[in-house]
Amino acid sequence: MLIPQNLRDLIAQGLIQDVLRPLKSGKEAAVFVVLHEGQERAAKVYKAAERRNFRARADYVEGRRVGDSRQQRAMDRGSKFGKQQSEAAWQTAEARAMARLYAAGVRVPKVLGSADGCLVMDLVVDANGDPAPQLAHSRFTHHEALKVHALLMRQVALMLCAGLIHADLSEFNILHAADGPMIIDVPQAVEAARNNNAKRMLIRDVDNVTRFLAKFAPEIRRTEYAQEMWLLYQNSSLRPDSPLTGRFKAATNIVNTDIILREIQAAKEEAARREEIKQARGDKSRRGGKPA
Ligand SMILES: Nc1ncnc2c1ncn2[C@@H]1O[C@H](COP(=O)(O)OP(=O)(O)OP(=O)(O)O)[C@@H](O)[C@H]1O
Ligand SMILES: [Mg+2]
Repeated sequence: MLIPQNLRDLIAQGLIQDVLRPLKSGKEAAVFVVLHEGQERAAKVYKAAERRNFRARADYVEGRRVGDSRQQRAMDRGSKFGKQQSEAAWQTAEARAMARLYAAGVRVPKVLGSADGCLVMDLVVDANGDPAPQLAHSRFTHHEALKVHALLMRQVALMLCAGLIHADLSEFNILHAADGPMIIDVPQAVEAARNNNAKRMLIRDVDNVTRFLAKFAPEIRRTEYAQEMWLLYQNSSLRPDSPLTGRFKAATNIVNTDIILREIQAAKEEAARREEIKQARGDKSRRGGKPA
């Protein structure tokens, strides 16, 4: 097994004691099973920027503030120093977001440390103690799918309460752990209050999860949790235990749009009536005021 230099460095620093086996190599990172304080853990090693499939980053980093103002200015300008800073910020972003979500009670692995482009976290396991599979490879009964969907909608709401949107949530970034679904892969998480794409990303996350689980419980396809959560969030009334129904009525908008449409119609009719009167008067004066 080829052990990446970053993991050797972690052993030298004492953060981990051994690298046991490779687990998965994804688009952006390779994940290894490592030994940490006598337990099997997961270590995610980020690929060097040039070997990575870049996601469109601008959409995600909007609203993130990093380091001191010199670092931030360099990143905004895109200078060489700025690019190095952006890379370092991207690599630590996942550890920071994951720790913040964990503290908010979201079902994500616990972060045990991060350094040198690596993130060490709890290994998510299935009922046999093996690394848990992605939700994408699981099948559910109708009842299970409804339960898992409700649980995941609550997780999305908890993330939003913590001010974050996952922004790459799907059945591939949720693991089917022994005690239920666990959310992973959060380096691109966006700040809900400071990103113009936030609502769009929230809707996409919820749609991805709903589309997948609707294969087993088709009736959830009609739910509108993202719209419901976003409205509560915008009104500062989303709480970790806010009741969620999956139903959404833009009641005030419907009334307002209705009134506006009626007013436009009334204005059109009024203009047409005036035009008719004008024309009738014109005809009359051309005929010298004599009745026909
Ligand atoms: N804490 C963990 N416990 C168990 N398995 C994990 C853990 N973290 C990651 N994995 C495994 O490694 C895979 C890749 O991890 P992750 O999605 O975080 O990386 P990625 O490179 O960004 O992936 P991709 O770009 O393909 O979504 C996961 O699908 C999962 O199978
Ligand atoms: Mg992933």
